[in-house]
Amino acid sequence: MGMLDGKVAIVTGAGRGLGRAHALLLAQQGARVVVNDLGTGMGGDGRDATAAQEVVDEIVAAGGEAVANTDDVASWDGAGRLVGHALDAFGGLDVLVNNAGVLRDSMAFNMTEEDWDTVVRVHLKGHFAPCHHAVRHWRDRAKAGGPVSGRIINTASESGLFGQAGQANYAAAKAGIVAMTLVLAREAKKYGVTANVICPRALTRMTGSVPGAADFMSGPEWDPAQVAPMVGFLASDAAADVSGQVFVVWGTRVHLLQGWSLVATLDRGEGRWTPEELAARKDELFATRPPKVPPMGFGQ
Ligand SMILES: NC(=O)c1ccc[n+]([C@@H]2O[C@H](COP(=O)([O-])OP(=O)(O)OC[C@H]3O[C@@H](n4cnc5c(N)ncnc54)[C@H](O)[C@@H]3O)[C@@H](O)[C@H]2O)c1
Repeated sequence: MGMLDGKVAIVTGAGRGLGRAHALLLAQQGARVVVNDLGTGMGGDGRDATAAQEVVDEIVAAGGEAVANTDDVASWDGAGRLVGHALDAFGGLDVLVNNAGVLRDSMAFNMTEEDWDTVVRVHLKGHFAPCHHAVRHWRDRAKAGGPVSGRIINTASESGLFGQAGQANYAAAKAGIVAMTLVLAREAKKYGVTANVICPRALTRMTGSVPGAADFMSGPEWDPAQVAPMVGFLASDAAADVSGQVFVVWGTRVHLLQGWSLVATLDRGEGRWTPEELAARKDELFATRPPKVPPMGFGQ
C-alpha cells in the first residue's frame, strides 16, 4: 500500500534533477505519473525527448505506471495539453507538481532582455499555466459533484525569498510563484484543492553550475531524493489541511517559513506626513531593526 494509491500526478521538468526524484517517489507511493520534460539545456536552449522517456522507463521497470509528456509548460496551450494528457492517459488528475525551471544568472547591469524574459517565462508562466488548466478541471469536477482532492506543489527558491545577487530574473519569478500560490490556495480552497510551495536545496546540474556549490553540496544529504518525500506528503490525503504554506526542504530538514510580517508602525495621527517629519522620526521606525539590506537566508 502506498500513500498515493489511485492518484494521478503530473510532475513538470521531471526528466532530471529534483523533478525526476519527485516522479520516482510519487510512483513508488502508488501514483500514476505524467513525466513532463522538454529536455532543455540549463538555460532553456535545445530539446531532448529522451529525458522524460528515460524516467518513465525507470518507473515502469520498478513496476509503476507513467507516461512521458514533452510539452513546454510555459506555453498556455502546451500546459493545457499536459493536463489533458493526464486525463486521457489515466482518467483523472489529483496532483500537480510544478518544478520545471531554467537558470540564466547575471548581475542586473549585465542581464539581457532575453535572459530576463526566458527565466520569468519558464518559471512564472510555466507554473501558472499548468495551475490554470488543473484548477479549471478541479472546479468543473467539484461543480459536477465529483470528489476532488487536488494538490498543487509549486517550486520556489530561497533566492526568491531573500534575494540572491546575480538572480534578479530568477528571484523575481520565484517570489512571484510564492505570491501566486498564496492566491491559488485561497481561490481553490472551496473546490477541495490545496496549494503549497517548496524551496528545495539539492545538488543537480542547476546548482552544480554555481561556482563552488558542488564543493559543499557533496554527499548523500544533497541528493534530490532527500527532498521528494515532502512532495509525497503534500500530495497525499494526509496533507488535506495544509495549504498556503512555504517550506524550505533539504537533507534531513523540513523548515516551515513565515512570510512578510509587520515590524514597526509610525502613525502621525492626523493630516499628512512631510518627508522632513519622516526623516526626523526615522530612528523610531527602525528602532528594532536597522535599515540595512537584510541578511541572505534565515539561519539553519
Ligand atoms: N537544485 C536546487 O538546489 C534548487 C534550489 C532552489 C530551487 N530549485 C528549483 O527546483 C526546480 C528543479 O531544478 P533542478 O535543480 O532539478 O534543475 P534541472 O536543470 O536538473 O531540472 C530542470 C528540468 O526542467 C526542464 N525544463 C526546463 N524548461 C522546461 C519547460 N519549459 N517545460 C518543461 N520542462 C522544462 C529541463 O529540461 C530540466 O530537466 C527548478 O524550478 C529550480 O529553480 C532548485
